[in-house]
Amino acid sequence: MRKIHVFDTTLRDGEQSPGVNLNTQEKVQVALQLEKLGVDLMEAGFPAASPGDLTSVSTVAKAVKNATVVALSRSREQDIEAAKEALQYAENPCLHLFLATSPIHRKYKLKMSKEQVMEQARASIRYAKQYFSKIEFSAEDAGRTELDFLCEVTAMAVQEGVSIVNLPDTVGYMTPQEYGNIFKTLKQNVPGIEKIILSCHCHNDLGMAVANSLAAIENGADQIEGTINGIGERAGNTAIEEVALALETRNSVYEAKTSLQLDEIYRTSRMVSKLTGMVVPGNKAIVGGNAFAHEAGIHQDGMLKEKSTYEIMSPDMIGVKDSKLVLGKHSGRHAFREKLIDLGYTLEDDQINTAFQKFKDLADKKKQVNDDDIRTIVEEKLIQTVQYFKLEAMQVTYGNKSVPMATVSIHTREGEQLEEAALGNGSVDAIYKAIDKVTGESVTLQDYKIVSVSHGKDAQGEVYVILAQDDITVQGRGVSTDILEASAKAYIHAVNRLLEKREQGDASKRDNVSLV
Ligand code: KIV
Ligand code: ZN
Repeated sequence: MRKIHVFDTTLRDGEQSPGVNLNTQEKVQVALQLEKLGVDLMEAGFPAASPGDLTSVSTVAKAVKNATVVALSRSREQDIEAAKEALQYAENPCLHLFLATSPIHRKYKLKMSKEQVMEQARASIRYAKQYFSKIEFSAEDAGRTELDFLCEVTAMAVQEGVSIVNLPDTVGYMTPQEYGNIFKTLKQNVPGIEKIILSCHCHNDLGMAVANSLAAIENGADQIEGTINGIGERAGNTAIEEVALALETRNSVYEAKTSLQLDEIYRTSRMVSKLTGMVVPGNKAIVGGNAFAHEAGIHQDGMLKEKSTYEIMSPDMIGVKDSKLVLGKHSGRHAFREKLIDLGYTLEDDQINTAFQKFKDLADKKKQVNDDDIRTIVEEKLIQTVQYFKLEAMQVTYGNKSVPMATVSIHTREGEQLEEAALGNGSVDAIYKAIDKVTGESVTLQDYKIVSVSHGKDAQGEVYVILAQDDITVQGRGVSTDILEASAKAYIHAVNRLLEKREQGDASKRDNVSLV
């Protein structure tokens, strides 16, 4: 059985999604979960982008013990130096060098000839070789690069001693047949190619990232690159969980396997979704809320008779257990602890105590506390933003014939208690205007989403917002049994992220360093 290496780039390509900003502690939590999931390599960031990115990569590199930690670098000495600094404490470091090779990129972006691209790539690999024994070289926009030139660049990279050559479909333009053909051609024509790992990296602009990655595997790729939930710039990247389950479920076709712990997929997917604020659509393959739901009567009937009539994978494969035990107000600490174990969470005693208190508070408001409520309580702990502002209390007056008014009482990090009131064209608008008066921040609400944590009228609401101020965009999330309170919490969370970003002086610097 061929082993397919998994290179996760949730913390780099995934974090390039609009509005997504994770702080260092949050990146470390994702990294540790990715390690549990069993990815072979994880790209922790782009150290030359900003001092904050360098710190994040370095902190992740110190925390991760088994997986290879990768840092992205343009083919330039100063980027390689930044990556070297960021990865100095990594157990297993890897440098990811890239340079565009396609005619469009050469002509318009780089203004370089083929020879110049070749020379710059060679020089940067040689420079990096002084510091790194493991190097991945990516021919950016490989998909639109002339095949003979791609063979020459790959041959040069192999000769210079890189360990991995990656052939990205940077703009998501390829069809499976075309993309597969690139791998087949390189495998047949590049001398020494068997000495390196050949990697695929697909973007999803035409919805073909997963199909293209599978085509690459069929044609000799040894490694897939992608993100959890397929997040990423524009339409996103290859969803790692989809490739892993395709290989598992259609094993007789692909005869290849990853070493992922498949039952960590659901927890990883939720963690990434909660921290990035990128809600997983219900119909998303593998991890969507409806991925294993059978609504039609004829399907339900078939399922009751024999599951395999309509189910090709079972939810427990990805770590979703069919749990019968529902907790309520009379459930004690022991039952709560058992439930956490059942859901696959390992928490320290003090974390269990705080989570148990939150569970008790929730059970006072909600008759049945189900698995998704418990998961949400645990996930609240993941969010590590500095609390410059914290919601203490709020009151809203609403009538469909009157102007809504909100009063908010907010605690500041300095220990002050501030109170403001505002009118708005709706309850949420009034709340947000009152919060703006307290924080004094002028922000634009770019997105507002509300989803329910579980089912039923008494379900908790989960609100996600994206706020923008100048060139910074940040996401925020809030959960409550009351959607107005969830809305206020999400907004304050986003303002806190904004202030955190500003305090680090990071965001604007990063925007000056594109991947060009
Ligand atoms: O999509 C792409 O080409 C990339 C490179 C930086 C590898 O992400
Ligand atoms: Zn990419």
